[in-house]
Amino acid sequence: MNSFSFPTTILFGAGTLTELPAHLARLRIQRPLVVTDPGLLPTESFRKLQTVLGASRQNQHWFLYHGVHPNPVETDVGETAEAFRAGRCDAVIGLGGGSALDVGKAARLLLRRPGLKLDEFRFEEDWSGLAPFIAIPTTAGTGSEVGRSSVITLTSKRRKAVLFHPGLLARLVILDAELTRRLPPRLTAATGADALTHCIESFTSPVFHPLCDGIALEGIHLITAALPRVFRDGNDLEARGKMLVAAAMGAVAFQKDLGATHSLAHPLSTLCGLHHGTANALCLPAVMQFNAARKPGLYRRVGLACGLDVVGCGDAEADARTSEWVARLLATLGLDQKLSGHGVKESQVEALAEQAIQDPCHQTNPVPVTKDDMKALYRAVL
Ligand SMILES: [Fe+2]
Repeated sequence: MNSFSFPTTILFGAGTLTELPAHLARLRIQRPLVVTDPGLLPTESFRKLQTVLGASRQNQHWFLYHGVHPNPVETDVGETAEAFRAGRCDAVIGLGGGSALDVGKAARLLLRRPGLKLDEFRFEEDWSGLAPFIAIPTTAGTGSEVGRSSVITLTSKRRKAVLFHPGLLARLVILDAELTRRLPPRLTAATGADALTHCIESFTSPVFHPLCDGIALEGIHLITAALPRVFRDGNDLEARGKMLVAAAMGAVAFQKDLGATHSLAHPLSTLCGLHHGTANALCLPAVMQFNAARKPGLYRRVGLACGLDVVGCGDAEADARTSEWVARLLATLGLDQKLSGHGVKESQVEALAEQAIQDPCHQTNPVPVTKDDMKALYRAVL
């Protein structure tokens, strides 16, 4: 049996942030807590939100927590819950990249069960009635705004907790391209590559979910056309909007789960400090070649979504042309460096492969992957 669910209301369009007060009224939210990271405070995006919420906090109708770390930790979640209680808030608004959104989502668990340790979170408990959450992304990549999980680092245990529950979903998502126009080209490329990887890995994962497959293919189509445009010109609001919606589509699609690229990428972030999107970009073409060699024809429809004419050619040629085209696209975005260019050393391959094989994402890779395969894949891009 399968169940398919696409429940999030998404407002889309440049300038849509101005609709927020009307939706707060509709949801009967009077005292929201804004959760963001310190880097967002001096930005135009934060100022726009301030303006929309009524300019000043002096009237205490809205509250602010801005302590979220780039890789969010348990204390960020605890402090957010504390700020919520102190302000007697009634909803959380997450503004930022995946980190701020994940912290905003997870803090509601602590409000529901004060004293909860995140590593003791149990899906089976009653999580109904969580405080409403509104997600406003300022990057187009993780798609955390439409996800039902939150990834928080447990500093004392030196590992990440993946909190998953449909109750964590946002009540409302605002995709406003005005909020991503200032994102610098490097971050635009890296986050966009993450979104592209979500679409490609979810489409090719063997889980039966034709709804997500369709969404993933259209996401690939949008990203491959829009990402080079926003990389060249951050003020291209039409392309910025397409990237925002495609990033959300990538995250909706990976309800199906991901693949080996994400398993290789996660340890590159935790052990070597690479940006998640960059790590995906550096590994994706090698994983595509690895998978295609074992499952010929796997990438033909990905190639079609990229706009390639691969209908009439054989499986091997369709796969090769697609993975080469994706590699060239990433190169035009400055994402073609080897791992060694990011400080990764041969001596780290063993530890990286050990973590990669422990990572759950490759369990839905189109073909099985062993630890030796992980090592070979790292070495192929070292
Ligand atoms: Fe990702």
